[in-house]
Amino acid sequence: MIAASAGVLPLDGGLVEPALSAPLSTHADVADRAFVKRGSGEIQPVLALADISLSFGGVAALRDIDLEVAQGEIRAVIGPNGAGKSSLLNVISGLYRPDRGRVRLGEHSFAHVPTARLAQHGVVRTFQNLAVFKGLSVRDNVLMGLAHRVRAGFLRQIAGTPLARRIDTENRAAAEDVIGFLHLREVRDRAAGTLPYGLLKRVELARALVARPSLLLLDEPFAGVSLGEKRELAAHVRNARDLYGATIVLIEHDIGVVMGLSDRVAVLDYGRKIADGTPDQVRSDQAVVDAYLGVAHADETELAL
Ligand SMILES: Nc1ncnc2c1ncn2[C@@H]1O[C@H](COP(=O)(O)OP(=O)(O)OP(=O)(O)O)[C@@H](O)[C@H]1O
Ligand SMILES: [Mg+2]
Repeated sequence: MIAASAGVLPLDGGLVEPALSAPLSTHADVADRAFVKRGSGEIQPVLALADISLSFGGVAALRDIDLEVAQGEIRAVIGPNGAGKSSLLNVISGLYRPDRGRVRLGEHSFAHVPTARLAQHGVVRTFQNLAVFKGLSVRDNVLMGLAHRVRAGFLRQIAGTPLARRIDTENRAAAEDVIGFLHLREVRDRAAGTLPYGLLKRVELARALVARPSLLLLDEPFAGVSLGEKRELAAHVRNARDLYGATIVLIEHDIGVVMGLSDRVAVLDYGRKIADGTPDQVRSDQAVVDAYLGVAHADETELAL
């Protein structure tokens, strides 16, 4: 069981309806689901980075990174500022081309992941800086998460036809579904810009989930929200895995959130992976304590109260 212990964010946020509170997976469950079985009997992780390196001028953002993500797990990547966490997501999502190494998504292996085809591979990501459209309603923001599905030119050609209406109906149903799932019904018609920050982060999550990604990449989804909102968002992320079946890579600073939510944690420091294992293994790793946990974090102090 993924335990909620002292200093770890409990995941029983009161706002999550009982029907949505599926039990947490155990590490053994995750190990069972860990790999996609191929016809040959060979097993494959859903995402694998092999020997990834990336520099900007003299700055090595990523050095020799290997990382495997198993199907159905919540895989956290933590590390101090500038450790390379966002760069890692940018490599996985094709925004950055690594200098060396390969990224494997399912059965496809890339030197440079094709960003434009990411959705076809079932991958959706969120960004570290909030990226909602403030003038649009919550519902329209969520619908934007489906915009990639149909090309604009095609939509113009079929405008007004039964097919266009069917696509529209299906998209709206998908949006309503995720709006309900994330408890956004009461605010769905409001302009996103009028909502508090914590709710905007939830809208961002809704927009990422509406396309039902098989792999969801979240860059600091809890940054800047209050402790109560963090609990709630963490429960939603867990439910996204348990009920929507998304495999999740989660970048997060807040060690308390990570320990309570993740199945496995990779720790980056100065672009290197210095530890990788279960939350308990990572927490007791001396290199991690020296590089990261030994440093006082405002968030951690907050959670320990
Ligand atoms: N586009 C870029 N151009 C130049 N340097 C970059 C670029 N992207 C990242 N870097 C550098 O690479 C290193 C890793 O940055 P990255 O943003 O990946 O860290 P991070 O772990 O996400 O940090 P934070 O916790 O502050 O978000 C930093 O030194 C950063 O300045
Ligand atoms: Mg970052």
